[in-house]
Amino acid sequence: MSQAGTTPGGIKPGDIKPVGILISGRGSNMAALIEAAKQPGYPARIAVVIANRADAEGLTIAQAAGIATEVIPSKGKERAAFDAELDAALKRHGIEIVCLAGFMRLLTPGFVEGWQGRMINIHPSLLPAFKGTRVHERVIESGTRITGCSVHFVVPEMDEGPVILQAEVPVPDGVTPEQLADLVLLEEHKLYPQALRLLAEGKLRVEDNQVQVQ
Ligand code: GRF
Repeated sequence: MSQAGTTPGGIKPGDIKPVGILISGRGSNMAALIEAAKQPGYPARIAVVIANRADAEGLTIAQAAGIATEVIPSKGKERAAFDAELDAALKRHGIEIVCLAGFMRLLTPGFVEGWQGRMINIHPSLLPAFKGTRVHERVIESGTRITGCSVHFVVPEMDEGPVILQAEVPVPDGVTPEQLADLVLLEEHKLYPQALRLLAEGKLRVEDNQVQVQ
């Protein structure tokens, strides 16, 4: 995704990086990033939260935390037109890093390439296993005993892209998909701030699709 051994997206150590978070719903991962960014010494600040739906619950949480929010409705809009609005909003806020946090809209390759190495996502499985939706149902159906979550760089293909960090979660006997989602979410809330820290500190290198932490 980038030249061998280069810093993704040219992110350099140093300043506190302005981050834009994209959400579509509840926003619990967004809330975890907002909390993390309040800690002294955290290398990123959440400069804007953008939702593609006006009823995304996370917007209220972000506003209560004093963070700028924007709604860019995606319904019925051509992908390229929506992505152009999104890109303009992110640039208007001076964003350097984009975090997808439950953002349920496919992005165009052009948009993704423009943010390559500077846009990350969290997915509730141990990628490359269980990409896509209905993850916890499929994990339980498969009989696997270990699941987890992954933070990865975003590439044009959904739930692909070099994995930055992962956390494992055992699958308890008889667990329901909802219970498993809650167990995984606890780990997501710890993992996402750690991954954003590494990216914002310029500590990640990508070589042959593999992320190395410096
Ligand atoms: C999380 O499970 C995340 O991994 C997935 O969508 C869910 C979003 O939850 N991409 P929230 O909106 O962060 O609470």
